[in-house]
Amino acid sequence: MIQVNQLYHSYKHNKDYAVNNVSFEIQEGEIFGFLGPSGAGKSTTQNILTGLLPMQKGTINVNGLDIKKPNRDYFNTIGVSFERANVYKKLTGIQNLEFHAKMYDVETDDPMKLLEKVDLADAGGKKASDFSKGMLQRLVFARSMINKPKIWFLDEPTSGLDPATASRIKAIITEKQKKGTTIFLTTHNMYIADELCDRVAFIVDGKISLIDSPRNLKIKYGERFITVEYIKKGNLMTERLSIVEQKDKAKLNHIVNNYDIQTMHTNEATLEEIFIKVTGRGLLE
Ligand SMILES: Nc1ncnc2c1ncn2[C@@H]1O[C@H](COP(=O)(O)OP(=O)(O)OP(=O)(O)O)[C@@H](O)[C@H]1O
Ligand SMILES: [Mg+2]
Repeated sequence: MIQVNQLYHSYKHNKDYAVNNVSFEIQEGEIFGFLGPSGAGKSTTQNILTGLLPMQKGTINVNGLDIKKPNRDYFNTIGVSFERANVYKKLTGIQNLEFHAKMYDVETDDPMKLLEKVDLADAGGKKASDFSKGMLQRLVFARSMINKPKIWFLDEPTSGLDPATASRIKAIITEKQKKGTTIFLTTHNMYIADELCDRVAFIVDGKISLIDSPRNLKIKYGERFITVEYIKKGNLMTERLSIVEQKDKAKLNHIVNNYDIQTMHTNEATLEEIFIKVTGRGLLE
């Protein structure tokens, strides 16, 4: 659906690239994640894809159309949620959505319904200047859905939100995907990437170092071991056994058949551990 080829961007218009030869493809209906630390070039890439930043070098193809200068049709089909809440502070929550809805030529959603979705129905009549940071973030998120976008760009959609609110946002994202929305999501949070994304790209210093599904990455980089805790003659025992070596597999079988198992875990690598292995950098640097 979206093909990005050899994209570059330099804010200084020199060889100091914030986005450096980035190529990737997003399939229709998938959640494609950009995972990387602060300053990696995630927002810059999103801003180029949404036409906020001019395209300096590279190609972007959406549904067979070359997006050199995004046109009105493209604008009508995308939704953009920003990292920083750029709303009209003097307008109320609902007025912000109503105003934004007027910018589209396509059918838009009911602002109140959207505010309800993000738990802002009660605050809808308040001026945005009285909103907390988390409320502003939810307002921007709700606003990004107003034109029922086919392609949805989400820049750090849950950062800084409390766990319950973050869960609500994640549920909305999953629900939209089920209805066929294609989603580009940027984050430095490995849990979000792991939970929501069909595929993630690791990005550091403007460069993508790999693209794969969280599951494949964990299988590829995870240790092939299982840790089992069991009770033997009244004592709690712990064994760490390979799940590929015959001898360990036989031992595991023996334990499972003869003792009371307390816990059993595979030693999966986390996305952050894999990220460090692959890029040599942590996500919070
Ligand atoms: N408006 C700007 N002018 C100049 N340099 C910029 C501008 N915006 C970003 N940069 C630089 O470009 C690089 C990439 O920034 P970008 O905002 O794309 O990173 P990011 O991955 O979104 O980071 P974060 O996780 O902090 O949001 C950084 O070195 C940043 O300092
Ligand atoms: Mg950013």
